[in-house]
Amino acid sequence: MTVPELKIKDLHVSVEGKSIVRGFDLEIKGGEIHALMGPNGTGKSTVASAIMGHPKYEVTQGTVLLDRENLLDMAVDERARAGIFLAMQYPSEVSGVTNADFLRTAINGRRGEGNEIPLMKFIKTLDKKMQMLEMDQAFAERYVNEGFSGGEKKRNEILQLMMLEPKFAILDEIDSGLDIDALKWVAKGVNSMRSENFGCLIITHYQRLLNYIKPDKVHVMMNGRIVKTGGPELALRLEEEGYDGMKAELGIKDDETVEA
Ligand SMILES: Nc1ncnc2c1ncn2[C@@H]1O[C@H](COP(=O)(O)OP(=O)(O)O)[C@@H](O)[C@H]1O
Ligand SMILES: [Mg+2]
Repeated sequence: MTVPELKIKDLHVSVEGKSIVRGFDLEIKGGEIHALMGPNGTGKSTVASAIMGHPKYEVTQGTVLLDRENLLDMAVDERARAGIFLAMQYPSEVSGVTNADFLRTAINGRRGEGNEIPLMKFIKTLDKKMQMLEMDQAFAERYVNEGFSGGEKKRNEILQLMMLEPKFAILDEIDSGLDIDALKWVAKGVNSMRSENFGCLIITHYQRLLNYIKPDKVHVMMNGRIVKTGGPELALRLEEEGYDGMKAELGIKDDETVEA
C-alpha cells in the first residue's frame, strides 16, 4: 500500500462574502503529524470547515488533494468515505442515536455495502479502544455527546477517530478546556494511531499538547495563510514570545478586511 498524501494548494475561502483564507498551502504525508498554530480569528477553523465541505464556507480558489483526488469536488459524505476525519472545535450532539450505533454506521459507511464490519469484531474493537481511553462502558449506549461534559465530548471525538481509522485527521482545538489528565489520554489516542497509513493536522493555541504529541512540523498561520514553518521548537518559541514578536519579525501588519 502506498503512503497516503494530503495536498492543500492555494486554498482561498470566503465566509458570508468576506475573504478569510487566502493562499493556504500545506502537504502532509502518512506517518506525519503537523501542528497548525496562530492567533484567534486567523482562519484555522475555516480551513478545516472548508476541507470537510461545510456549506457556509465557500472555496473560491485552490485544491485539496487526497491521493490525487480533489476532495473539493466530492459531496460531504464522500469526503469522509475517502478517508478524512474532522474533530470539531465544538462537537455536536446527535439525539436519539447511541454512540455505538453511530460508530458502527460510520464505519460501515466507509467500508461500503457487502463489506460491513462483523458485529462481534465491532464490539471487541470498541471495547478495547474505550478501555484504552479509560471510558466507562456506559458511554457506548449513551446518545452521541448528549449531556457529555466538554472533556467527555473531546474524549468521544478521539474514540471516533480510533474506531474510524481515517487516512487523515484534522483535530481542531481538541485540547481546549482539557485538564492535564484529559490531555494525556487525547495524546495517547492520537499516538496510538501513528503509522504510515495515517497523517494528522493538530490545530491548537497551546504548545502544551505538543509535549505529549510530538509534531514533525509546526506551521504558523496569520491573516489567512501559513507564514512560517518549523519544528517543535517553533511552538516553544511562540509560547514564550507570543505572536506579536513573530509578526514584527516577518513584517506582517494587522489584518484588514478584504471583500471577496
Ligand atoms: N460561520 C461563520 N460566520 C461568520 N463568520 C465566520 C464564520 N466562521 C468564521 N468566521 C470568521 O472568519 C474568521 C476566521 O475564523 P476562524 O476560522 O474560526 O478562526 P480561528 O479558528 O483561526 O480562530 C473570523 O473573523 C470569524 O469571525
Ligand atoms: Mg478555531
